[in-house]
Amino acid sequence: MEDIFQTENAASTKACGAPEEALQVRNVKKTFTLSYKQRKINRTDERKKVAVDGLSFSAVNGEIYGLLGPNGAGKTTVMRMISTLIKCDSGDITVFGHSVKTAPDKVRASIAFLTSELKLEDYFTPSYLYNFYSDLHGIPAAARDARKKQLFDKFGIGSFSEIKLAELSTGMKQKVSIAVSLAHDPKVIIYDEPTNGLDVITAKIVTDFLLELKKEGKCIIVSTHIFSLIEKVCDRVGIIINGKMALEGTLAGVCAGP
Ligand SMILES: Nc1ncnc2c1ncn2[C@@H]1O[C@H](COP(=O)(O)OP(=O)(O)OP(=O)(O)O)[C@@H](O)[C@H]1O
Ligand SMILES: [Mg+2]
Repeated sequence: MEDIFQTENAASTKACGAPEEALQVRNVKKTFTLSYKQRKINRTDERKKVAVDGLSFSAVNGEIYGLLGPNGAGKTTVMRMISTLIKCDSGDITVFGHSVKTAPDKVRASIAFLTSELKLEDYFTPSYLYNFYSDLHGIPAAARDARKKQLFDKFGIGSFSEIKLAELSTGMKQKVSIAVSLAHDPKVIIYDEPTNGLDVITAKIVTDFLLELKKEGKCIIVSTHIFSLIEKVCDRVGIIINGKMALEGTLAGVCAGP
């Protein structure tokens, strides 16, 4: 996709031509305190749950890195920490050298975040929502409208851009979420189960789009349980079990075992 405006990536230029380390997750830990209800759901008397336990990995520009692992492994938690929605207890995460602890605003300016639990406000239209988030990033109106047209055309959102989200299907809403997440042309893309609940055609549009973003040199972190998506797009995968990195490497390497 044509770059129609520049975003700030202060520490992003490397002269040597080696792939740039866009994202670094270093020895990150997160423990949740469980409520009575959560203890019942998890069938445990423990008051604490270590969701992420000293996790480290990194990804470079032009790479799609897949986070895999069983339910409850800690994938969404680490993605929420990268996106600055929740804080790490210890360790650090940097995006182009900016720490989530000391420069969360710089991190947010550089990333797109999409989670399966994201709820779009039903009352608004895709066009209104897009403008709202784009304006939050301070994008001038002309650049905003040009990029909106590009993204809405790409996902076929134009035909329902003025219809309230309450009246749209899951797939339509997911397309809107993806378009909105890319409003500020982020360089690092964090998508948590992006094809969840989508029909095969919409899932293919999203899959192909991830490959397009990779070609543009974006760094993409994607979590999924769908093996075909992993096979099609991931350059490397990390398998998380109980909050720890159990295995990491190319898909072929990981399938061959430790
Ligand atoms: N806000 C929270 N409060 C308490 N426990 C939590 C909270 N968020 C996550 N957890 C717990 O942390 C662990 C990791 O959850 P997480 O959602 O990161 O797993 P996941 O790998 O994304 O799983 P899934 O594949 O099912 O999406 C789980 O045991 C979960 O119950
Ligand atoms: Mg999850």
